[in-house]
Amino acid sequence: MLLLGIETSCDDTAVALVRDGRDVLAAVSTNQDAFHAKYGGIVPEIAGRRHVALLSAAVDDALTRAGTALSEIDGIAVTVGPGLIGSLVVGVAAAKALAYASDRPLFAVNHLHGHLFAAFLDRREPIPYPFLALLVSGGHSQLVAVEGPLAMSVLGRTRDDAAGEAYDKTARLLGLGYPGGAELDRLAARGDPAAIAFPRHRPRDGSLDLSFSGLKTAVRYFLESERGAAAAPADVAASFQAAVLDVLMARVEAAFACAPFRALVLAGGVAANSALQAAAQAWSARRGIAAFIPPPRYCTDNAAMIAAAAFHQRALGARDPLTLGADPNLPFEPSLLNADAALI
Ligand code: KG4
Ligand code: ZN
Repeated sequence: MLLLGIETSCDDTAVALVRDGRDVLAAVSTNQDAFHAKYGGIVPEIAGRRHVALLSAAVDDALTRAGTALSEIDGIAVTVGPGLIGSLVVGVAAAKALAYASDRPLFAVNHLHGHLFAAFLDRREPIPYPFLALLVSGGHSQLVAVEGPLAMSVLGRTRDDAAGEAYDKTARLLGLGYPGGAELDRLAARGDPAAIAFPRHRPRDGSLDLSFSGLKTAVRYFLESERGAAAAPADVAASFQAAVLDVLMARVEAAFACAPFRALVLAGGVAANSALQAAAQAWSARRGIAAFIPPPRYCTDNAAMIAAAAFHQRALGARDPLTLGADPNLPFEPSLLNADAALI
């Protein structure tokens, strides 16, 4: 089954062609970072306008690279939420037009489900259910119990900043560019993770929730102090990263005590972090559990993961193309998908 995936939920204009939810024939993505960098964050209006300017060419480019044509694909998968409404509607409108023109089915995909299915891409062996997914991105941080393509529940979520947001805000404090996660990752590799003892949040109620705002504030106060002014930025980055990883891996450990998970899956932009990947691999090896980590290009937002999710979830995804809409606040739980959501 050859699906064309479209992802425009935030600031990446991405199109991919994926066979059987696994083999990526083409993946095209245009990053808009240069247009948003000077504002220190994503400007929704600019993001939507860039999608309008770039999407048609990205579809043509992906089809050409895959050596295929619209008439040869079996369906179109598109992110319908959550995300920025002005960005989502561009992808959804394009997907509806393509589905109508090619008379192929349209599959609606939750962006967060897409991140979970990124781990299935370019991989021969299947991932065994049930697995625990640590989904850490710029907008979300959550631990998800995945029992099947459509059976998943959130065990713990962030109470404030998402992990990627904490990375980006800390990167900004260190004078790095936006988004700063990858740059901070590289800087931290040259620093001492034990140089500064930043706090590790642990929920008092024993829940699996995450919190990073205290850590972010601790980094800010430290940098404003005399010791902070003299500290090497690489040491601050490495110590911040060590605190994030300790919190994430402690929650993974606690989640595995709750259910008999057969694998650990990392997902989302922060899963591209080299130290998190190493920590997850080491933890899994110690515990004798398989770890599935997508290559960095499929950790951050991309369209191949949307096509992969649609392949696995397609029983749910067949819709009337003419009524499908975007939902910026789409809930995570599949049972609520498209129920009474405010479709636009
Ligand atoms: O999944 P994603 O592309 O977009 C969302 O759905 O949010 O995640 C983007 C986030 C940004 O916060 C970015 O700084 C972070 O992922 N990120 C990283 C790394 N690469 C991207 N954070 C830490 N280390 C990295 N190597
Ligand atoms: Zn994302």
